[in-house]
Amino acid sequence: MVSQEEMMSQLRQVVDPEIGLNIVDLGMIRRLDLNGSSVNVDIALTVKGCPLANTIETDINRVLGELPGISKVSVKMSSMTKEELNDLGQRLQKMRAEQKSVGKAAGLSAGIDKLEKKGIQNIIAVMSGKGGVGKSFVTAMLAVELRRQGFEVGVLDADITGPSTAKIFGLAGKPFADEIGVIPKTTENGIKVISMNLLLDTPDTPVIWRGPIINGVIRQLFNDVNWGDLHFLLVDLPPGTGDAPLTVFQSLPVDAVVIVSTPQDLSMLIVRKSINMAKQLNVPIAGLIENMSYMKCPHCGEKIQMFQDSDIESVSKDLQIHFLGKLPFDPEVNKLADQGKIEKYSSTETSDMVRKVRNRIQELGGITAKPIAWKRSQASS
Ligand SMILES: Nc1ncnc2c1ncn2[C@@H]1O[C@H](COP(=O)(O)OP(=O)(O)O)[C@@H](O)[C@H]1O
Ligand SMILES: [Mg+2]
Repeated sequence: MVSQEEMMSQLRQVVDPEIGLNIVDLGMIRRLDLNGSSVNVDIALTVKGCPLANTIETDINRVLGELPGISKVSVKMSSMTKEELNDLGQRLQKMRAEQKSVGKAAGLSAGIDKLEKKGIQNIIAVMSGKGGVGKSFVTAMLAVELRRQGFEVGVLDADITGPSTAKIFGLAGKPFADEIGVIPKTTENGIKVISMNLLLDTPDTPVIWRGPIINGVIRQLFNDVNWGDLHFLLVDLPPGTGDAPLTVFQSLPVDAVVIVSTPQDLSMLIVRKSINMAKQLNVPIAGLIENMSYMKCPHCGEKIQMFQDSDIESVSKDLQIHFLGKLPFDPEVNKLADQGKIEKYSSTETSDMVRKVRNRIQELGGITAKPIAWKRSQASS
């Protein structure tokens, strides 16, 4: 019969994906009983209803199932009490301090480790100072155009407090997972998409999480998803300069950031914050895009100025960043986004913007290798 120690030692292989430490050291095991050939495990999660609980449960089943004579594993999940969380917080702080000093002694830099890029050639984050400026639209158009050009493209919706990517691409339903990871949903044209919306049981429920949780979830959306080989991964960032964009810059190996703004002065002031954040964190800035700059008359194509001219070209010059173009307000965008058919949208302005972004990525040393020919015909069919 296997011993308690043997079971515990197996359970040390199970890592809480959010915190990155094993569940034994984290004190998450409340009960571990062996009755004949079946084991009962009670686990106290750090957050109630943790969306990543399934991963932990599957891992527990796997590692305990590997022991001889065990045929059934039952896992019961509950959540930690406030006191337990406080205690855990203190232990984590101590452990991190120890890790830091060990890391320093070994010549490693302190701070959060960046995740590996794996088979992804270019990771481009799309950022904005505030919500509603069309960040998700720009992310989607980058994905759509690059896919039309025959590239392998993925979209990671990191705007976990207001995810919209799945919706505008008309995707719904939970993604499957295999032993390599979560399999992204695929759009009609073959863009791989992962969004918090797809993973939640009730996609309409607003997600209210604290910083450290957001941190863990974003790391997982990148790391535990089997993205495969991609030319471009586009990351739709949460608006602003808070915890979530910070996490992305600190933990994902982002190659460049595209900043989106609208002509209003207010958002231009806010956009400076985004630029400063990227600069401070040493993330290369691809440039600035102005969305909803003007309206194009559906009859004669004349440009109708809706806001005072922002003079974004000279502002970009002032801020020493590249100007990547103006996109008009087009009611068709809204319509197709609502119908989940954003892939059907095309305009000379968006194509032009994507061409400029691609050139900038190349200037920044990114790889924009020629896509494989057969994939091009597949993408446009
Ligand atoms: N150029 C545009 N023309 C028309 N509607 C747009 C345009 N850009 C964005 N929208 C619409 O504006 C709303 C906000 O855009 P979204 O991309 O979701 O912004 P964000 O991601 O910055 O919050 C959406 O309903 C979207 O369809
Ligand atoms: Mg959005």
